[in-house]
Amino acid sequence: MTAFSNRIPYMREAADVVRILFESLSDPGTISFGGGAPAKEMLPVDEVAAITKDILTKEAQGYPMLQYGNPMGFPALRQAVVEHLLVPGGLPAKYENIIISSGGMEGVSLAGHLYLDPGDVVLVESPTFVQSLETFQFFQANIVAVETDDHGFVIEALEDNIKKHHPKLIYVIPTFQNPSGRTTTLERRKAIAELASRYDVMVLEDDPYFELRYSGQALPPVKSFDKTGHVMYANSFSKIFAPGCRLGYVYAEKEIVDRMYDVKTALNSMTTVLPQVICAEFFNRGLYPGQLKRNRAVHCERRDAMMNSLSAHMPEGVTWVYPDGGLFTWAQLPGGLSSTDLLPEIMAAGVTYLPGRQFFAEGQPILDNCMRLSFGQMPPEVIDQGIQKMAKVIKSKLR
Ligand SMILES: Cc1ncc(COP(=O)(O)O)c(C=O)c1O
Repeated sequence: MTAFSNRIPYMREAADVVRILFESLSDPGTISFGGGAPAKEMLPVDEVAAITKDILTKEAQGYPMLQYGNPMGFPALRQAVVEHLLVPGGLPAKYENIIISSGGMEGVSLAGHLYLDPGDVVLVESPTFVQSLETFQFFQANIVAVETDDHGFVIEALEDNIKKHHPKLIYVIPTFQNPSGRTTTLERRKAIAELASRYDVMVLEDDPYFELRYSGQALPPVKSFDKTGHVMYANSFSKIFAPGCRLGYVYAEKEIVDRMYDVKTALNSMTTVLPQVICAEFFNRGLYPGQLKRNRAVHCERRDAMMNSLSAHMPEGVTWVYPDGGLFTWAQLPGGLSSTDLLPEIMAAGVTYLPGRQFFAEGQPILDNCMRLSFGQMPPEVIDQGIQKMAKVIKSKLR
């Protein structure tokens, strides 16, 4: 059989993890703390039904909705990103600096296409989002994990690695990080932007949980401290609107988004127009503030349920992150327990989670006693049942 390209075996391991992740989302009999899906209760089904019907019938927009569109994105959605998301979030974005992507993942991919040749170094947080690792592997990048603590990148370690490896890209998820749930402090956000300028390295700031804050003070994105155009800000509509619509965007210098346009025309011509029109209309009808309020309330209740349940049931020595938002916490097991080895037994008890090892780049130090627990998908009472089941198995191993 004809050999696959070099990148296919290189990205295999991360691709396998991502496959398991998506498969676990669709098993109705399991208490899933695995996938990163938002609560189904907050998906705006009725609003999307009403908008779609209106647009296709009353407002005669049916033709543009089903026709080829602009590779840069549907104009009303680009404008909505500026007016309803970026400017209120503290970023002085302009329309020409926005490109709509097919989900947040395509933002990561576009950045990779623009900057990465095989062997180029990407600095990532340790741990970091497995699907982005897969994307960087697709480009045959040399992924170097940088030490993090409870407050994000350890800045001295980041600078040392910049000096040592001359990276092309720094990848950071500053807010309610996936998988750890941790948030990069204000000072470190400033420092990341400053290092990028000083050493002429591009930063890809991936911020899909920015809006999902349930406690604490909102922090300005790294991009807001960028004076030299070194930060690309990528975001997604998956956690604030609907992941199945596959919408995201990148906000960056015009020269950068213009080159992303070139890449996109080669990749997929444009992001699917139909969901872009619906999503733009959702924002322009003023439905977003109410939706965000409900979204935060549903997820906050689930975050609290998981935190309370972990406190009530986990044996001594198990620790976890208290996230001020987002969808994840990161738990650590004591006594040399491996979250990978425990998974089959916990799955047999009817619960899934993602073992921590999957969030570490290959060849880097791996914390196998960690696990990512997602509280997005399950209602509070089911979260409590799931944590109790997990705790029972963990306790039995510590005796
Ligand atoms: C950090 C991070 N980046 C990107 C994405 C991908 O977003 P999307 O589903 O819109 O492609 C996710 C989704 O979980 C994520 O956690």
